[in-house]
Amino acid sequence: QWTTSSIVEEQVQRISDQIGDGRAICGLSGGVDSAVAAALVQRAIGDRLTCVFVDHGLLRAGERTQVEQDFVSATGVNLVTIDARQRFLDALAGVTDPEQKRKIIGREFIRVFEQAERDLKAQGDYKFLVQGTLYPDVVESGGGEGTANIKSHHNVGGLPDDLQFELVEPLRLLFKDEVRRVGLELGLPETIVQRQPFPGPGLGIRIIGAVDQERLDTLRAADLIAREELTAAGLDRTIWQCPVVLLADVRSVGVQGDGRTYGHPVVLRPVSSEDAMTADWTRLPYDVLERISTRITNEVAEVNRVVLDVTSKPPGTIEWE
Ligand code: XMP
Repeated sequence: QWTTSSIVEEQVQRISDQIGDGRAICGLSGGVDSAVAAALVQRAIGDRLTCVFVDHGLLRAGERTQVEQDFVSATGVNLVTIDARQRFLDALAGVTDPEQKRKIIGREFIRVFEQAERDLKAQGDYKFLVQGTLYPDVVESGGGEGTANIKSHHNVGGLPDDLQFELVEPLRLLFKDEVRRVGLELGLPETIVQRQPFPGPGLGIRIIGAVDQERLDTLRAADLIAREELTAAGLDRTIWQCPVVLLADVRSVGVQGDGRTYGHPVVLRPVSSEDAMTADWTRLPYDVLERISTRITNEVAEVNRVVLDVTSKPPGTIEWE
């Protein structure tokens, strides 16, 4: 019988056995998975864990503050924040292929960690890298037996061959709901544990087309409005997540005030799911959709059309890339 406390106990023991008296670093993404993985490892090895938060510029509004304030105050963990925004923009410049984007983002992540590890050398040797890889990530990246590679999740298929760390992946056999229960058991606050999933490659895979600063700012503004309205309508726990996707290479004609516009569409992708392996599109109330659409087209100058994705998974995936 797998109770939550037995999962915690067993994982803490495994982590202690693996790391011994070594040191580990853990990349925090702002999401549930890396937060719970870090909290488990912290329980096992205490302050020999250092968390690294990479601001890759592909984050949503407010995410950096959430990690720097909420997670640190809940755990007291050692945190280093690295501003790598320009580095990711440079690496992604002109790249439109989804798999290539994912691989580049995964590779840059690891390079930044390796740099962080060198910077932290003064305190000792960091040989271990903690990752919040879940069971569905392993399966969908082709890690499970007899499975096809659907997408290279940045923390599985995107790792470079010459990785300099030994991986610690305490969530590798768990599904999201189990991870949330483990997080609560470890004393993490609801604001972190109940957060909706957000992909590691962030807004980089929600811009269909090449990623640049202006497109990121546009998508960030639209995404914030959608999240505000869904929260205000009390729908955060009803939906699994609601990606907002910018069709950056598509333009359509619109009219606003007296003038013609020629802007970009954004897609709302609200989904309901148990574990992200399959999903259904969420029937959001029309008045909520209307508020989101009106606000985005009024407040985000580059966007003149809001469309709704009504595809289940399968055949669609949750993210567009
Ligand atoms: P898909 O698009 O494959 O997404 O249906 C399934 C779930 O996984 C999230 N996702 C990711 N999470 N790294 C992550 O940590 C990734 O590279 C990644 N890609 C997708 C997605 O948001 C959904 O919850």
